[in-house]
Amino acid sequence: MKLTILGGGGFRVPLVYGALLTDRGEGRVTEVVLHDLDDSRLHAVARVLAEQAATVPEAPTVTATTDLDEALRGADFVFSAIRVGGLEGRADDERVALAQGVLGQETVGAGGIAYGLRTVPVAVDIARRVARLAPDAWVINFTNPAGLVTEAMSRHLGDRVIGICDSPVGLGRRIAKVLGANPREAFIDYVGLNHLGWVRGLRVAGRDELPRLLADPDLLGSFEEGKLFGTDWLQSLGAIPNEYLHYYYFNRETVRAYTEVEKTRGAFLRDQQAQFYDEMKRPDTSALTAWDRTRAEREATYMAENRETAGAGERDEDDLSGGYEKVALALMRAIARDERTTLILNVRNQGALSVLDTDAVIEVPCLVDANGAHPVAVAPLPDHATGLVCAVKGVEREVLTAAENGSRATAVKAFALHPLVDSVNVARRLVEGYTEVHPGLAYLK
Ligand code: G6P
Ligand code: MN
Repeated sequence: MKLTILGGGGFRVPLVYGALLTDRGEGRVTEVVLHDLDDSRLHAVARVLAEQAATVPEAPTVTATTDLDEALRGADFVFSAIRVGGLEGRADDERVALAQGVLGQETVGAGGIAYGLRTVPVAVDIARRVARLAPDAWVINFTNPAGLVTEAMSRHLGDRVIGICDSPVGLGRRIAKVLGANPREAFIDYVGLNHLGWVRGLRVAGRDELPRLLADPDLLGSFEEGKLFGTDWLQSLGAIPNEYLHYYYFNRETVRAYTEVEKTRGAFLRDQQAQFYDEMKRPDTSALTAWDRTRAEREATYMAENRETAGAGERDEDDLSGGYEKVALALMRAIARDERTTLILNVRNQGALSVLDTDAVIEVPCLVDANGAHPVAVAPLPDHATGLVCAVKGVEREVLTAAENGSRATAVKAFALHPLVDSVNVARRLVEGYTEVHPGLAYLK
């Protein structure tokens, strides 16, 4: 079984490889091909993987290449985890938006649109190549903004592309834990778009346990989302939102916090990772130790400004290990070995969320088996959530059209229609600002 990882020189690749190393079963991945545009990043990551594999018998082989077509040929699975424009681009996304007084987060608001506009053309090119060179491969998309990018790729790959994110999984795990339920036995009733979803129920043996949580302020205030959103607001909503909804429900505060911070998230990660990749050029350092130290620091500071705004304090120990690699591995196993399971994934709607058309990619629990991911029909969202989901899907569609037609006017429309951008004039200035700094947006005419 051959797995190709696009963005193979990326910092989180060792997480995926680490998960593969735990898989001893029949039909597991035996061959990993890393693809990246940057040879030195490939070298750095390959060093970490080699140290991870050192004590593991029959570890998957690792090869690296900068030739995309060569990487794709014969792949059974393709993980796409690219970052168009790098972390410098992410920092620019934040800076340009904040200069206009709006949010520049990599997936939410203006920043997400800018990142989407430069990523979609690249993702579409990849999708076309996969369709040609590895038509039977399954593509697992990690690339943010994950919902939008998955939808762009699905226009060429249909249901063979599946988007993943660890945030709904982490949320479900936290809720299950405070309720004393086993996350593996619980059905998490979650739906929305990527980074824009709500848990409306958690069922164990036919019983919804969420009302018990919502009724108990102590329990509710004891985990990440309770601290971030406040127990009153969760009780008012009657649901637990994905942590990224903090940018919507507390937009003014998060914009202010991001404006005041010394380094934005993107700038922090840009500098932190530059140091790591530099360190990897020195043969005397342990690659795995340096990677692990860098990873721990990254995890500990995740959404730090949001938590500070909310007075939420440090992250819980249990939340520091992410889980993105576990979703990826569970998904691959289910498909490759027909091990039926339920996972929250980004797939085409197919009628599950009736307010959106069938091709709209949504984030929803899916039954997964050798035939792929099948969304489970869900109850409708309340009007306030439907409003946000439809508005943001509308924006995503404008981004897709702008990328397809190379239309600057459509890009302006995408920014202007986003609920977190409060003026058409701001949208115009955002397009100006972004096209000035991003060579990847030169196609917008
Ligand atoms: C969460 C999100 C991902 C994001 C990751 C890393 O897991 O779901 O989409 O890539 O955080 O965030 P960071 O700010 O550390 O890059
Ligand atoms: Mn995510």
